[in-house]
Amino acid sequence: MSSLSIGILGTGAYLPTRVLSNQDLENIVETSDQWIKDRTGIRERRIAAPDEDVATMGEAAARQALDNAGIAWKDLNYIIVGSNTANYMYPATAIRIQHGLGLDDKLAAFDLQAGCSGFNYALHVAENLIKGNGGGYALVVGTDTNTRMLDFTDRSTCILFGDGAGAVVIGPTDRSRLVASFLASSFNGKLSLKNEFTELNSPFLPKPTLTNNYMFMDGPEIFKFAVRAVQESLRRILAQAQMTREEIDFLIIHQANNRILETGARFAKVPMEKVYVNVDRYGNTSAASIPIALHEALMEGKIKKNQKVILISFGAGVTWAATVLEWLT
Ligand code: ACO
Repeated sequence: MSSLSIGILGTGAYLPTRVLSNQDLENIVETSDQWIKDRTGIRERRIAAPDEDVATMGEAAARQALDNAGIAWKDLNYIIVGSNTANYMYPATAIRIQHGLGLDDKLAAFDLQAGCSGFNYALHVAENLIKGNGGGYALVVGTDTNTRMLDFTDRSTCILFGDGAGAVVIGPTDRSRLVASFLASSFNGKLSLKNEFTELNSPFLPKPTLTNNYMFMDGPEIFKFAVRAVQESLRRILAQAQMTREEIDFLIIHQANNRILETGARFAKVPMEKVYVNVDRYGNTSAASIPIALHEALMEGKIKKNQKVILISFGAGVTWAATVLEWLT
């Protein structure tokens, strides 16, 4: 195996072109631009076109990440996709992306579902697959079409989410270094955030009583969890990476709500200039949120040479996860 450490070689993102503004939502549910901005920081979000889905969006982000990584596409060994809105239970979205990229059977492609922590989870798994198998490259994608599972009569959820995809290529490199990461999950038995399967059609099961399979969320409950998850993630990842808060150069926190980003910044004792914010433009893009933010922060020059970035996610399950990334070039 190469003596280089494992890091991110290239990033990419894809956002659908159609914009749904808060004003547009005022015509759909009883809400107001002011309420949404005050409570969430969101101004607008993107909606996938009818002919787009998690695979087409993921593929677009992946093409950009592969081009930026500068590796031969055929050198990929793994494609891992974090998503919560796959079109099919099977085949995996990762395999549909493999097909879209024209890659043959020399690689392994699979999905994992970990709520909005899906990208961090996939990144951790990819890093350890590479380490455990003597090297290679992995494409890690976060992609979600959240707007397709929203109930647009439920104002407590439909204002929060948007569609998008982000991707990174990881492998042995001197461009950046994955310093530390952890994954966590727990469940208290309360389904505070859920999307239930309803299409049961078996003679061995009772008839389904549910009438929809939209997302349900207890917002205030999830808000409390999210704040705790960000604080716990910071404590744990700093200890694991043997870092102090003063050594945090940049923070990328799951873009769910601006108030959660501000709480994270206060807890980390970093100014908001060091916290990436695009929740105002895209809303919550679930598993795509972290890789889109990382890509944009790099493209905007907000992450500089020899800086340490912490990526923190939290999501349904509940799950949470964090990664320390050192950008070397
Ligand atoms: N427009 C206007 N009023 C609204 C809206 C809306 N869109 N939604 C709710 N309200 C009303 C409620 O009906 C309630 O009215 P009432 O006081 O008359 O009963 C009032 O506003 C307050 O509602 P709350 O739900 O208590 O509002 P809160 O301040 O908690 O904000 C929000 C709601 C924005 C959803 C917040 O709880 C939140 O951000 N939660 C976390 C969401 C999150 O991060 N989810 C994702 C995490 S995991 C993942 O990404 C999948």
